Amino acid sequence: MVALCASFCESILLSMLLLRSALAAEHLSAAATATAQCQTSCGGVEIPYPFGILSDSCPTEPVFEVFCNDTGNGVYKPFIGNIDLLSVDVQLAQARVMNRISSSCYNTSSQRMNFERWRMNLTGSPYRFSDSANKFTVIGCRTLAYIADQDYVGKYMSGCVSVCRRGELTGVTDGICSGKGCCQTAIPKGLDFYKMWFEESMNTSGIYNKTPCSYVVLMEASNFTFSTTYLTSPLKFNDTYGGKAPVVLDWSIPTAENCVEAKINFTSYACKSDNSVCLNSTNGSPGYICNCSEGYQGNPYLHGPNGCQGVVASVLAGFFGFLGWEVIRHKQRNKKQALLRQTDEFFQQHGGLLLLEMMKADGNVGFTLYKKGEIENATNNFNKTHIIGEGGQGTVYRAVIEGVAIAIKKCKEIDESRKMEFVQELVILCRVNHPNIVKLLGCCLHFEAPMLVYEFVKNKTLQELLDLKRSRRFHVTLGTRLRIAAESAMALSHLHSLPHPILHGDVKPANILLAEGMVAKVSDFGCSTIDEKTQAVLKGTPGYIDPEYLLEYQLTAKNDVYSFGVILVELLTGKRPLSKESKTLTSLFQEAMADGTLIDILDSDIVEEACMRVIHRAAALASQCLVVPGMTRPSMAGVAAELQQLALADEVQRCPQPQLVLEDLNIMEMGSTVSMWYDESKTRGAYSLENKAVLSIEFAR
Ligand SMILES: *[C@@H]1O[C@H](CO)[C@@H](O)[C@H](O)[C@H]1NC(C)=O
Ligand SMILES: *[C@@H]1O[C@H](CO)[C@@H](O)[C@H](O)[C@H]1NC(C)=O
Ligand SMILES: *[C@@H]1O[C@H](CO)[C@@H](O)[C@H](O)[C@H]1NC(C)=O
Ligand SMILES: *[C@@H]1O[C@H](CO)[C@@H](O)[C@H](O)[C@H]1NC(C)=O
Ligand SMILES: *[C@@H]1O[C@H](CO)[C@@H](O)[C@H](O)[C@H]1NC(C)=O
Ligand SMILES: *[C@@H]1O[C@H](CO)[C@@H](O)[C@H](O)[C@H]1NC(C)=O
Ligand SMILES: *[C@@H]1O[C@H](CO)[C@@H](O)[C@H](O)[C@H]1NC(C)=O
Ligand SMILES: *[C@@H]1O[C@H](CO)[C@@H](O)[C@H](O)[C@H]1NC(C)=O
Ligand SMILES: *[C@@H]1O[C@H](CO)[C@@H](O)[C@H](O)[C@H]1NC(C)=O
Ligand SMILES: *[C@@H]1O[C@H](CO)[C@@H](O)[C@H](O)[C@H]1NC(C)=O
Ligand SMILES: *[C@@H]1O[C@H](CO)[C@@H](O)[C@H](O)[C@H]1NC(C)=O
Ligand SMILES: *[C@@H]1O[C@H](CO)[C@@H](O)[C@H](O)[C@H]1NC(C)=O
Repeated sequence: MVALCASFCESILLSMLLLRSALAAEHLSAAATATAQCQTSCGGVEIPYPFGILSDSCPTEPVFEVFCNDTGNGVYKPFIGNIDLLSVDVQLAQARVMNRISSSCYNTSSQRMNFERWRMNLTGSPYRFSDSANKFTVIGCRTLAYIADQDYVGKYMSGCVSVCRRGELTGVTDGICSGKGCCQTAIPKGLDFYKMWFEESMNTSGIYNKTPCSYVVLMEASNFTFSTTYLTSPLKFNDTYGGKAPVVLDWSIPTAENCVEAKINFTSYACKSDNSVCLNSTNGSPGYICNCSEGYQGNPYLHGPNGCQGVVASVLAGFFGFLGWEVIRHKQRNKKQALLRQTDEFFQQHGGLLLLEMMKADGNVGFTLYKKGEIENATNNFNKTHIIGEGGQGTVYRAVIEGVAIAIKKCKEIDESRKMEFVQELVILCRVNHPNIVKLLGCCLHFEAPMLVYEFVKNKTLQELLDLKRSRRFHVTLGTRLRIAAESAMALSHLHSLPHPILHGDVKPANILLAEGMVAKVSDFGCSTIDEKTQAVLKGTPGYIDPEYLLEYQLTAKNDVYSFGVILVELLTGKRPLSKESKTLTSLFQEAMADGTLIDILDSDIVEEACMRVIHRAAALASQCLVVPGMTRPSMAGVAAELQQLALADEVQRCPQPQLVLEDLNIMEMGSTVSMWYDESKTRGAYSLENKAVLSIEFAR
């Protein structure tokens, strides 16, 4: 199969996982007694009920059918559809299966890239990719790989980028997968389909004699440990895994939507064991799972002796329990003391003393050094409920200290050698006082990772505004768009113009907050300064990231100009930056500009005869921001000046704009109702889907 495909190959692994749900329910009760005659293992793999292998002696149909096929020479192996089954876990309601590794290798004879791409379709089956156990994993030295749902437009799309600075392996480390030679990103809940593709402009043709191959696979995170040999010997990764890596699937009984419904019909209710409980499926699929009640072990789907049985609870257990408790208490005491010692170490490491000195010398200007306890108290010990965003450089918590609402950003840990520099930059940052930049109020250096404290901007982000616009729930006039663009440009221009310029590095709509009156405030820099020079971690977001930066791996002011250009195009067209496979919005836009067909891709909401002059000028400006090479792009100051002019142009003010608000929605109340599931601009970390920033596509983890 693989040999047959020339340069591109895509296969559906699992397309026909048909579930005869009506039948399945009927047979559940019968199966509980029929298991005795049924084969319960295949090729050394246990096949516990409700999974089962059909045969003449076991004609009853299980909910989850497993094939036990001869793979040649009498070696039997279990399969779900045509996927290799590794194991089934009834307690966790998970199955481990094999997923194909996709690759992109430079072919020296054809001088082209050879792609092998795989996807997996679980639609219509009771399986979902486990969001907690799997990671989208990318290996390569010049690789950007995308992952998407089947209908990714408006739904899920993400990417991961992996590069080696100038193709060299310096800084690439065994066991560390953080964007250098290796990248991993989490997937959202409920994913039942995944496809992937490579960004073709990021290819290994320039480094083929060192690392000709890139690999991509959605796989079990715990099964993967990065090794630098995966880069030094081109076929090593593929060979180590034999072309397939394990991926974990969550399954659930699909015959009822949830436990409440399942219990209505006791005949079809799957939790047959006496001491079992029903749990709603937690991974986005309708359905339920069974588990043994606390203190019981066994198979909750079976009656009788194989069902849930009481664990031998005895005096002995109690005795060991007591011992264990004492050991734990002792350990906790030690841990607490160690922590106290550490706190001060961290403070010193992060240059707290230096900062204090500088503040004294400076007669300090409203910069606060927060105490550890204050931060912990205010965030309820970094309780999840306080999280308001999770971005490339850290997690953001909402808190109130002394009656003032603040946002606390927990940076990623920083490099020893960079700590002094970080502190110096903090001092610069806290002097930044601009109406369109989120104000840095202070910091706390008593933690392993530095904490930055910002003013709290309650209102939404430009990303959310654009999403509302796209779902036609909110109308945004041309004037507002240009004003937001102008304000953001002024903010970036200000950062670039400081005596010690600050480069943002991750300019995107999700990082432009809209405060009261929809005033734009640029956020999410600060921690960024930590990495900017050493480029320990690659920053940016697919769709907004400057392709030049990916090649050079060296952040410049022109990279911010490029990202800003993408935002401008987004504001003019209303389209998402990554909307079509292998054709980004920027290339679509640049082609339209070249062909004179701009009007075809403009957002119809803003197209007005009277405004076309302004729109054309804004489009020309965006086009200049996107040109390659970056050296020829305008400066952020130039962009800001032009946009200010355009935003204030008379015709924009007069331009007739439909006050279209289809639903009576207040943008400020939209937080929980906006569909969180789409995304091209986010992903990372724990995907609690409750906020947008969490979905922020992440590069380089
Ligand atoms: C309950 O489920 C059984 C087995 O699927 C089915 O035969 C029966 O009709 C169902 N009863 C009701 C009330 O839906
Ligand atoms: C296993 O056998 C079943 C039934 O003969 C067939 O439908 C299925 O495709 C086979 N799977 C594999 C991977 O060979
Ligand atoms: C089922 O119960 C076991 C033991 O109490 C627990 O470890 C497991 O996480 C539970 N499974 C689910 C899916 O909650
Ligand atoms: C490289 O390309 C040539 C010519 O297209 C082809 O015959 C050959 O099979 C390719 N090599 C690999 C390893 O795919
Ligand atoms: C995935 O499978 C479902 C159900 O079999 C089918 O409707 C859908 O078209 C498949 N998707 C793709 C992209 O093949
Ligand atoms: C590799 O990417 C460059 C642009 O970065 C492009 O010019 C070149 O054609 C690509 N080469 C292959 C083999 O795809
Ligand atoms: C990864 O999974 C495979 C298949 O189950 C197993 O053989 C291998 O030992 C695992 N490797 C690690 C490092 O967990
Ligand atoms: C990876 O391994 C599989 C199975 O051995 C093979 O079919 C595939 O061609 C290999 N891919 C590459 C890029 O060598
Ligand atoms: C399952 O979901 C239903 C409907 O959302 C809800 O009413 C019920 O309380 C849930 N049950 C459990 C055990 O979580
Ligand atoms: C935390 O807050 C509580 C009540 O608001 C207060 O009593 C306590 O002193 C605070 N602790 C610290 C360390 O600030
Ligand atoms: C987080 O806060 C919520 C609500 O205030 C509380 O129910 C929960 O127990 C807290 N979680 C932790 C881990 O402290
Ligand atoms: C958010 O914006 C709305 C409308 O512009 C305004 O009424 C509200 O006061 C703002 N809230 C905050 C906290 O800025």
